[in-house]
Amino acid sequence: MCGIFGYIGPRTNGLELVVDGLKKLEYRGYDSWGVAADRGGELFVEKHVGKISGIDTKIFKNTSASLVIGHTRWATHGGVTDINAHPHFSGDKTVAVVQNGIIENYKEIRDELGREYFISQTDTEVIPQLIARYRKTMNFQEAVLAALRRLKGRYAIVAINVGTHQLIAARCGCPLIVGIGQDEHFVASDIPAFLEYTQEVMYLDDNEMVIIDGEASDERPLDQARGRRVTSSKRRETSRPSSGQARDEKEKFVTDHSSLHFLNIETSQPIQKRLVNIDWKAESAEKGEYDHYMLKEIMEQKATILRAIDQSDEDILKIAQTIRESRGCFFSGCGTAGKVCMAGEYFFSIIAQRHVNYAPASEFPVYHHFLRPESLLVVISQSGETADVLEAMEAAKKKKARVLSIVNVAGSTIARQSDTSLLINAGPEKAVASTKAATSQMTLLLLIAYAMTERLQEGRRLLAEVASKINDMLNPRFLVYIKEIAQLIREHNNLYIIGKAENYPMALESAIKIQEVSYIHAEGFAAGELKHGPIALVSHGTPCIAFVANDEVREDVLSNTMELKARGAYIIGVSPERHDVFDEWIHVPDVGVASPLVNIIPIQLLAYYLSVLRGLDPDMPRNLAKSVTVK
Ligand code: F6R
Repeated sequence: MCGIFGYIGPRTNGLELVVDGLKKLEYRGYDSWGVAADRGGELFVEKHVGKISGIDTKIFKNTSASLVIGHTRWATHGGVTDINAHPHFSGDKTVAVVQNGIIENYKEIRDELGREYFISQTDTEVIPQLIARYRKTMNFQEAVLAALRRLKGRYAIVAINVGTHQLIAARCGCPLIVGIGQDEHFVASDIPAFLEYTQEVMYLDDNEMVIIDGEASDERPLDQARGRRVTSSKRRETSRPSSGQARDEKEKFVTDHSSLHFLNIETSQPIQKRLVNIDWKAESAEKGEYDHYMLKEIMEQKATILRAIDQSDEDILKIAQTIRESRGCFFSGCGTAGKVCMAGEYFFSIIAQRHVNYAPASEFPVYHHFLRPESLLVVISQSGETADVLEAMEAAKKKKARVLSIVNVAGSTIARQSDTSLLINAGPEKAVASTKAATSQMTLLLLIAYAMTERLQEGRRLLAEVASKINDMLNPRFLVYIKEIAQLIREHNNLYIIGKAENYPMALESAIKIQEVSYIHAEGFAAGELKHGPIALVSHGTPCIAFVANDEVREDVLSNTMELKARGAYIIGVSPERHDVFDEWIHVPDVGVASPLVNIIPIQLLAYYLSVLRGLDPDMPRNLAKSVTVK
C-alpha cells in the first residue's frame, strides 16, 4: 500500500517524470499524492488530497529538478489531509522522505524529539525529523543509517537531502526496486513506475539500503539529442545463471557501479547486488476500448486461462510431487486469493482425494504448532507483495517448512522468497478488484490436482475446454443481460449468495466482489447453513444468488434455494440448466468440477455493472488498494 518513487539523474524534468510514474503506482493507494525535489539546494514540496491520475503533469513543466521523490498514499496513520500527504520533511527543510508501510514506534520517537516539532499526524514524519537530528553530527548516509536503526515495523522509504544532492532508499518489509538507467537511477515500489526508461533493475532485500549520489549541481552540459545532462558512470557485469524462479528475467552480478552503494542496515557491510533484466513490455496496462480496467480484465479471461495452463508438464509434475511428498500441506492467501485457496481445497479433495488445509494468511502464523520441516505451505497472491502472506511464509520458514508460491508478478517479494514459484501469466491486473488473476489461480490449482493423480493431460483438456466456453460466454448479449439484472437490483441494500462444495468459496468470493466495488452489503453462505440463522435476514424481494452446478450437491442447493424463495427472495440462478425456482437465470456452461471458473465470471460482471450504475469508480473503490503491504 502506498506507492513511492524517486528519481536522481541528469534529466531536468524530474517532477514530470515522477508524477507520471506515480500514476502507474496509483493502484497502491489513492487518498492523496505529493512530490518533493531539490531545486538548486532548496526543498520544493507540493502535496494534495485526491487521486494523482487527475493531475496534469504539465503543471511542473517549468519547474526543473533532477532529484525528486513522490508518493501516492493509502492512509494508515492520520486522516486524509494535505498535511498528512507525503513527502514529509524535517523542520529545517533539508531532508524529505516518502514511506510505504508502518513505523510502529513512531509515538515514542515523536515524544523523544518533542511533539511541538511535528506538523502532521503521520508515523512517517518522525523519519525526516530523526535524520535531521542525527545530521547535526553526522553525514547524510550515517544519519539515515542511525535513524533506520531506531525504527520498528515493516516499511520502505526513500529520502533525499538537498544539501548533498543524494538519495537514499531502504527496505524493511515493503517492496523497493532500483531501476538502473544510463547515468540515472529510479527507485520505486513497483517496476511499471520506471519501465519506460529502463528494464535493468536491482531488487532491494529486507534490511538493505542503497545510497545514490548525484551531481551537486545541474551545471553539466546538455546532450541536446536526448534532452539530458551528460554524466559518466561505470558498471562491470558478469553473467550468472538464472535462479529459475522468474523465467522472464535475466540476471547479472554487478561488481561495481560508481554512484550506487548498497549496505546492510544492521552491519553497515557493503552488499553485492544482481542486475536483473526485466523482459516486460510497458504495454497491456492500458484500458484500450474499455471504460474501466475491471471490465477489460474480466473480458481478458477469454485468454488468460489458456495462458495459465501454458506451463511445462515437468514443472507441474514436480510441484504435484512436492505436494504428494509433504506431510501437512497448507494453502494460504488473502481476500480473493484466500477464496481461491478454499476452492483448491475442494479441487484437491474431489480430483485427487488429497487433504490440504486452508487458512487465511493473516491467521496462518497461529498454526505454527502444526508445522514441521516436512510441511508445505502453498501461498497464492496476485501482487506477490501482500504483507500477511509474507508473514505466513516467515512462520513456515521458522519451522523449516517448504514454501511454494503461485503469483502473477515476476520478481515480486513472495516469488523471490519462496522455494519454488509458479507464474500465472495473467498480465498486469490494474483494477483493485481481482478478476482474471483469481480464475488463473484456480486454473493452476485444478491442473496441479489432476497432475497429483497422473491425469495431467485430462486436466489440460478440461481447462482448454473451459477457456473456449468462457470465450463463447463473454458475448455482447450476455453482458447486456447481466447489466439488466444489475439494473433490477441496484437499489437494494442487501444481497446474499449461496453455494455448496467447490462453489461455496465462490459464494464468498462473489460477496467480496460486490461489496468492494458497489458498496452493497453482500454476504456469501454455504447453502446448507442458511437455515441455521442467516435466513432470518431474507424478506420479500431480497436478491439472492444461487450457484447450482450439475454436480452431486445440485439437489441440496436447489432445496436451499427453494427455502429462500419461500421467504420471498428474488432468485438469480447461476447454472447450466434453468430451474423453476429461478426468477433470473444466468446460463453458464457445464464444465464439471471446473464450475467455479465459469460461475464467478457473471458475478464479476454483475459487481462491475452495479458499481457503474451506482455512479462509482469500479477501478478504485474507496478505502482499498491493490497491493496490501501492511498487516
Ligand atoms: C479483492 C482483492 C483482494 C486481494 C487480496 C490479496 O478483489 O483483490 O481481496 O485478493 O488483497 O491480494 P494478493 O492476491 O495480491 O495477495
